Amino acid sequence: MGKSVYVGMSADLVHPGHLNVIQKAAELGEVTVGLLTDRAIASYKRLPYMTFEQRRQVVEQLKGVSRVVAQETLDYVPNLMQYKPDYVVHGDDWREGVQSKVRQAVIDTLAQWGGELVEVGYTDGISSTQLNKALREIGTTPDIRRNKFRRLLEAKPLVRLMEAHNGLTGLIVENAHFDGPDGRREFDGMWGSSLTESTAKGKPDIEAVDVTSRTHTLHDILEVTTKPIVYDADTGGKLEHFQFTVRTLERLGVSVAIIEDKVGLKKNSLFGTEVPQTQDTIEGFCDKIRAGKAAQVTDDFMIVARIESLILDQGIEDAITRADAYIKAGADGILIHSRRKEPDEIFEFCSRYAKLEQRPPLIVVPSSYNQVTERELIDHGVQVVIYANHLLRAAYPAMMDAARSILEHGRSKEIDSKLLSIKDILELIPGTK
Ligand code: SPV
Ligand code: MG
Repeated sequence: MGKSVYVGMSADLVHPGHLNVIQKAAELGEVTVGLLTDRAIASYKRLPYMTFEQRRQVVEQLKGVSRVVAQETLDYVPNLMQYKPDYVVHGDDWREGVQSKVRQAVIDTLAQWGGELVEVGYTDGISSTQLNKALREIGTTPDIRRNKFRRLLEAKPLVRLMEAHNGLTGLIVENAHFDGPDGRREFDGMWGSSLTESTAKGKPDIEAVDVTSRTHTLHDILEVTTKPIVYDADTGGKLEHFQFTVRTLERLGVSVAIIEDKVGLKKNSLFGTEVPQTQDTIEGFCDKIRAGKAAQVTDDFMIVARIESLILDQGIEDAITRADAYIKAGADGILIHSRRKEPDEIFEFCSRYAKLEQRPPLIVVPSSYNQVTERELIDHGVQVVIYANHLLRAAYPAMMDAARSILEHGRSKEIDSKLLSIKDILELIPGTK
């Protein structure tokens, strides 16, 4: 009987290195490719550009591949136990870093039936990292970007958003990363915060910055990033106006509009009951959700309903009644906001939410209860976390320090060591040179 060979890969950007591995594998026997699902890939690095089905179509046509199966985890063991291959073939670039544990488990598992790991030398001159960089320079399209948010919800236990209020903060959200023991951590997308955008323009967060102006900011962010955008649409304005906003956002490639259930002059939620704020009626807000859903053209675009009951001290019962009604009116997700210092009322809402019949993704904004960890949010069923204002709050004190120091010393030398160097600022933005 012929030998069987297993090759695990993501195959997002297929290059000669992949073909080399498959060719070596085909010399050893019949090749099964274990194609990593979006979820498996997102567990340790950025979501792939192509969907699983697109990647499958490509790999199925590669010479030497007999069949393609899904590999649901970064860990090969479940598939190896199922297919019991004689060989696993892989590039030799996984001996270090996140994948080294995965590699050892492959060796140990194969040993159970006398199977063998064969490693193929690294193919010079090309790598997925280089191709990824090139792709980022090419950019993205509105359709690909818009759809990415739904893909992230499918692929990740918690989608992590950070606010962006101009091109530069967009770039930070696009590129910031932390390499930890479990792989690379990044922000998955951007939050188009009304608070930080208004503040950056020196205006109050009361819907005074109009949609046209906010669209210009979106353009600036869209120009230099590829990650999905979730837009803070405030109250959505008048129902008839909201329908235009939905179309505009959708056309630009924004993935989600979040509207909050308030009417009249909107004030920032973190004021709570210190300022007069009026919540919409359930019927009124359901009408707005329905109007928005009727206006959208694609299947990808999402409208999320934000509930202000806890902000306005109306209680959990009111919040849950509203969640149920908004979902039935067609909301694609629920944002529950709180201004408490502790996450208790959010957790209470989460347990009530878990009992609802329909449960679209639940979103939270832990600005005041900031001790809560992402792990705890996942354990309570939260699917999206928004860091709503942190880049702006980081920038402002630093700018004030610089301004004050120059006034105090009558020159800029004293503050210089705290600033981005002239050399770094010239190199910060690609294409400056
Ligand atoms: C924003 O970032 O503009 C928000 C969240 O809507 S909050 O400021 O907490 O209301
Ligand atoms: Mg806002």
